Amino acid sequence: MRDQWREGADAALTCGTVSAKDIRRAAETLRSGGLVAFPTETVYGLGADASNRDAVARIFEVKGRPTGHPLIVHVASAEHLDRWAREIPDAAWHVAERCWPGPLTLILKRARGVPSLVTGGQDTIGLRVPGHPVAHALLTEFGGGVAAPSANRFGRISPTTAAHVREDLGAAVDLVLDGGACPLGVESTILDLSGDRPRLLRPGSITPQELAKTLGQQCESPGSGAPRAPGGLASHYAPRTPLRLVTASRLERVAAGEIAAEPRVAIMSTHGPAVTPTSGSRWLKMPSDPPGYARALYARLRELDSGEYRLILVEVPPEGGPWMAVHDRLRRASAVRTEDDPADTDCAP
Ligand code: TXA
Ligand code: MG
Repeated sequence: MRDQWREGADAALTCGTVSAKDIRRAAETLRSGGLVAFPTETVYGLGADASNRDAVARIFEVKGRPTGHPLIVHVASAEHLDRWAREIPDAAWHVAERCWPGPLTLILKRARGVPSLVTGGQDTIGLRVPGHPVAHALLTEFGGGVAAPSANRFGRISPTTAAHVREDLGAAVDLVLDGGACPLGVESTILDLSGDRPRLLRPGSITPQELAKTLGQQCESPGSGAPRAPGGLASHYAPRTPLRLVTASRLERVAAGEIAAEPRVAIMSTHGPAVTPTSGSRWLKMPSDPPGYARALYARLRELDSGEYRLILVEVPPEGGPWMAVHDRLRRASAVRTEDDPADTDCAP
């Protein structure tokens, strides 16, 4: 499971798009308090030296992210855990051994001395060892922890290419390491091991089933006592264009009705066009396998969002198993734009 995406990502280094000199310059930028955007196997991160309060403050500024929303600290290997977390349970070492480097973030109790800006003032900290060779080379060269949220403006779609990062953040980033398209395409699975029972806070490429197997017990879903997390807000990961989820059985009818009412409708489906798109509308066929769909999702949403569409209709994918992360992101992308309202989905059978 860990190695499926690795081939493409390795090419970023071996093809010379990112050189050893680039990595040294990026590490130097971090050391001097600058911001470096870098690829991970999930999405691009906007990194700063996690032990430099001013540098971390710039992340919030550049993203337009309210302080109080915790950041993930990225490290080169699990050997760094003790520096950032305390009272680390055996389960964390076990999961780290199985899933790192990889698309998994662990929430643990925060070690003393960690700047509270990094953790949004919480007593816990998110830690991840990414497996992307460019991220790994950067973290190894830098040596410390790199606080990095996804490198997009707050509340918008996460970037899966260097061009997306530049589009969103432009000159506010000191350096962008271009490692090509992210091979997984959705953010890491977040597993909270800071409490009595393991809890899944965000689904990702590593599924609850895989985690349950490693942990020897099921993960709970976040309840009302879940820590406040921006990725947990209903309207996170949203395009500007309204997005509506529609079941496969209703898609043809809904699409035809919307196009007839007013074109400028984009439709995303794993099937071929069921209605003939008129001028101004577009039918976009998505990969039918979950990894392929996840890899394409954010780039396609950005593409449609920058078109002149008034509405994006998306065929709702299955809910469980390998589709869980995609389903979660689409549900959030379709949510109405307030924190408390439920997702505005059109999933009636
Ligand atoms: O794949 C990823 O996780 C990417 C790459 C760059 O690593 N990062 C990412 O970061 O998605 P961000 O900040 O966009 O989302 C991180 C999520 C947020 O929902 C945040 O609230 C949650 O992780 N998080 C971080 N620290 C936490 C903590 N101590 N307790 C609960 N949630 C936490
Ligand atoms: Mg994000």
